[in-house]
Amino acid sequence: MAIPISPVMADQVPGQRLIEKWFPFGELGEMIRREKRAMKPVYQMHSWPARRAGSEFRAIILATFLPSDVPPDDFWSLFYGGADMADVLGYRPIVLDPFMGGGTTVVEALRLGCKAIGIELNPVAWFITKKEVEPCPTGELEEAIRLLRSEVEEEVLPYYRTMCPACGGQAKMVRAYWVRQVICEECGEEVPLFQHVALSRIGDKGWIYCYNCDEVHVVGPGEGLRVKRCPGCGAELEPVSNGREYECPSCGHRGRVLGAVRAMGTAPGARMYAICYSCGSCGQRGHKVPDREDRELLGLCEEELRRDDMARSLRSLRVEIRYGEDSRRILAYGIRTFYELFNSRQLLVLAIIRRAITELPVSEGVRELLLLAFSDIIEFNNTMVPWVYKANKVESCFSIHNYLLPHTYAELNAWDGGRGSLLNALEKVRRGKLYCRRPFERRYELRSGRLVLVGRTYTCGSCEARVTHDPSEFGRSDALLICSSSLEARIDYEVDAIITDPPYFDNVIYSGLSDLNYVWLRDVLSGRYPWFRPPHTPRDDEIVVDPSRPEEKDGRSYVRDLSRVLTRFSGNLKDDGILVLTFHHRRAGAWASILEALVISGFVIKAVWPVRSEARSYPHTRTHGAALHDAIIVARRRLTPPDPCVRADAGELRGHILSRSVELLEDLGSEDLRWPTIFTVVVGQALRAYSEHYPNVYHGGRRMGVGELVEMSKALADEVAERWC
Ligand SMILES: C[S@@+](CC[C@H](N)C(=O)[O-])C[C@H]1O[C@@H](n2cnc3c(N)ncnc32)[C@H](O)[C@@H]1O
Ligand SMILES: [Zn+2]
Ligand SMILES: [Zn+2]
Ligand SMILES: [Zn+2]
Repeated sequence: MAIPISPVMADQVPGQRLIEKWFPFGELGEMIRREKRAMKPVYQMHSWPARRAGSEFRAIILATFLPSDVPPDDFWSLFYGGADMADVLGYRPIVLDPFMGGGTTVVEALRLGCKAIGIELNPVAWFITKKEVEPCPTGELEEAIRLLRSEVEEEVLPYYRTMCPACGGQAKMVRAYWVRQVICEECGEEVPLFQHVALSRIGDKGWIYCYNCDEVHVVGPGEGLRVKRCPGCGAELEPVSNGREYECPSCGHRGRVLGAVRAMGTAPGARMYAICYSCGSCGQRGHKVPDREDRELLGLCEEELRRDDMARSLRSLRVEIRYGEDSRRILAYGIRTFYELFNSRQLLVLAIIRRAITELPVSEGVRELLLLAFSDIIEFNNTMVPWVYKANKVESCFSIHNYLLPHTYAELNAWDGGRGSLLNALEKVRRGKLYCRRPFERRYELRSGRLVLVGRTYTCGSCEARVTHDPSEFGRSDALLICSSSLEARIDYEVDAIITDPPYFDNVIYSGLSDLNYVWLRDVLSGRYPWFRPPHTPRDDEIVVDPSRPEEKDGRSYVRDLSRVLTRFSGNLKDDGILVLTFHHRRAGAWASILEALVISGFVIKAVWPVRSEARSYPHTRTHGAALHDAIIVARRRLTPPDPCVRADAGELRGHILSRSVELLEDLGSEDLRWPTIFTVVVGQALRAYSEHYPNVYHGGRRMGVGELVEMSKALADEVAERWC
């Protein structure tokens, strides 16, 4: 029997939504790429790994609720001007995100006049999203920031004083440079693991540190910072460590760093070797080697930390770091607890700031905002923070989504040191809350084939809403934010759309990374929110693939759990409801997994849109390994079971998929077609056809699996790509 497949671009399908027929993925990809460099202020209030761009979800939500006959121009005027979905539909729709993360879906849904339900396993992410959308009078926040400054400044600034080498006055420590050291396995001497001598540049002046004469030297404007010979003592400056191996400066022995660490039986210690200062009296800025007073200051910090109240307040950091793909490298270095990831000044200053926040006479809502700023600086104030001298800036320790111990690290002035300091984070929170009340879009226009930024437009709608975490209160609120596993959570509401960005297979271990924030937040929040009581963030229910824990979290458990969540909430989806899932495809295997989860849980795929949200791309080549594209997968619930008498034949599907992909690609009319785009279009068409007949798709007398379908799509994409060139 011939297989009936619904037409791809049919103009009149009753009830069809725009996202099933059209999506502006070309323009949007370019917008997302730019937005990722400068997120909207609400998303800058606190980082969350692999955050999505707001404009992507704004476009998805709009296209999910607009009917399919809305022309592109109208779509864009609603995108920029603002639209209320209640006006479009005649009622206020509910959007559910079962993997809420840092809240992009929730924030954008509220802006568009929807009600939102977000479910998130991780307490840190839950807290971030809650604080993004909870209303807060700006005046109250500004007053609280002033109060905090007057409480804390005098107490913490003395820990960042250093003598100005130019005038002898008191200067501010901007940052300190530390090096880790191991004991040489041959001669027993300390080996500082320097990989280079570069410090940094200020204006056209550069500084280096010579580990032979223990001096800081200035290099000229034209010179690079990786000098080979010390301008002071003339010593040749070979790297002591290449990251994995060291060469002992005393005896010349070469050995593995990890071998030396194992022989020591403890984590490597570290020593401060240079300070970047800024002097208020003489205006001098530069670098110096630490003097006796600088070292005494560190001794003072250690003493303070031994005080009973301090020790007690930092107890929650003394919990073990759990083994996983994210942490196995630092565990191999002998680090055991979170406490060991901070130096004494960092511990002390962070503890002082946190205590001041908890004691400030302000409302709980505002206190939590201050706490959010505090939490945001943790990833910049620990001993894993690299100093990137080439870019002249610090990086967050999580810029690579892993715990790593750099051999040299930067210690910031956590109070007033620019990027990563508290004053900076408080300002980001203040701006974020201002944005929530008056959100804007950056407006781009297509001019001679290029997207040009032409300014901002303020949209109607606000990101702020009445928030509850009690499901029975949702009727009286705008947003229900539940901190729980989506494998467990139950909601008794019918929803109009499920829009979500599920965990990306094996890219990020959210639980492990967020523990670094969690151990600092726990004591302060556990009284009000029971999900902050356990010593770590929950990870048993986390849907992720962890190559270091294959018996707990492998590809199969990922598919099983993701399908369970989708099946669970498909029961909440209205008959005409839409599911939209974003996905990052790094490997074909990951594609097959997510698609399998969708068909198993009873969804029929209606469209798959490629969004090139990363800059790097390779023309027309089969780059199956590269993560260049996001895919937006649009599906509906299957309302009637497939007719078992209709057997779809893979060969016949193949023809349909090919012709429809070409048709669609022509319609999309992009000149800049690359293999990943073609593949996404092809696999999307393959999935449409396959999911419509699932599980009755046969190939050579056998039922065809999703893996085979993805393989077939790759071959078809090759064919199409060849035709296009
Ligand atoms: C890709 S992230 C979502 C990011 C979000 N779109 C954003 O812009 O920040 C996926 C989220 O799923 C969460 N997650 C993983 N397993 C979960 C589960 N069983 N239940 C609820 N959330 C879970 C992770 O903690 C993570 O925050
Ligand atoms: Zn030696
Ligand atoms: Zn020297
Ligand atoms: Zn000075």
